[in-house]
Amino acid sequence: MATTAAPVMPTLRVAPSILSADFGSLADAVASVTPGIDWLHVDVMDGHFVPNLTIGPPVVASLRSHSQLFFDTHLMITEPARYLEPFRDAGADGCTVHVEVGETTALIAQMRDLGLRVGLAANPDTPFEALEPYLDQVDLVLCMTVFPGFGGQSFMPEVVDKVARVRAAADAAGLPLDIEVDGGIDEHTVVEVVRAGANVFVAGSAVFNRDDPLAAVGSILDAATAERTGATS
Ligand code: DX5
Ligand code: ZN
Repeated sequence: MATTAAPVMPTLRVAPSILSADFGSLADAVASVTPGIDWLHVDVMDGHFVPNLTIGPPVVASLRSHSQLFFDTHLMITEPARYLEPFRDAGADGCTVHVEVGETTALIAQMRDLGLRVGLAANPDTPFEALEPYLDQVDLVLCMTVFPGFGGQSFMPEVVDKVARVRAAADAAGLPLDIEVDGGIDEHTVVEVVRAGANVFVAGSAVFNRDDPLAAVGSILDAATAERTGATS
């Protein structure tokens, strides 16, 4: 008898982006949100893939000595193959590469060989079809909800449909995929993306630019949980 697989309900989590933290006191910034999270989002930019420069493996290694969190490392760089091993050695737990840089199959294999959790990201104007061939090979899909490069930009609602298509494809295949959104996420915009099927919410300015970053994490998670609970009850 044919059975229908129950939809996968992956864990809802907020992954604060340290891009918006005080880089002079990174360990303190991380400690301030640690009671409310298990993932930390680390934005790596190379000045080529995006017009900004941020951090490299030495900073990840320094943070590693202060934190046991899962380091969700978002590589906005044109040559991830050169840097995956240094980031792994520095303490990255998962790495996410952009599908726009190409060589995706080889990069996924390299991440697996290194023991990294595997993520694949797409810019707002990159279609679902670019991600589709890889959905059964990755642990996480990151749908950028701003063009990458800078914190503090406005959420792009036109990406929500792509999130829904990724979740529908994952559910149809029975894949327990994490779907992450990144850019302009706060306690208001999170509602739309959780409804579409996202479950990992990167938030930079909506956490670290608030007076109480830990409470801000709680507000985003509460809003996401309420939306999911309401939708399923
Ligand atoms: C943007 C980065 C994001 C950024 C999000 O290129 O990938 O992680 O820090 O910042 P907010 O939440 O301020 O949009
Ligand atoms: Zn990011």
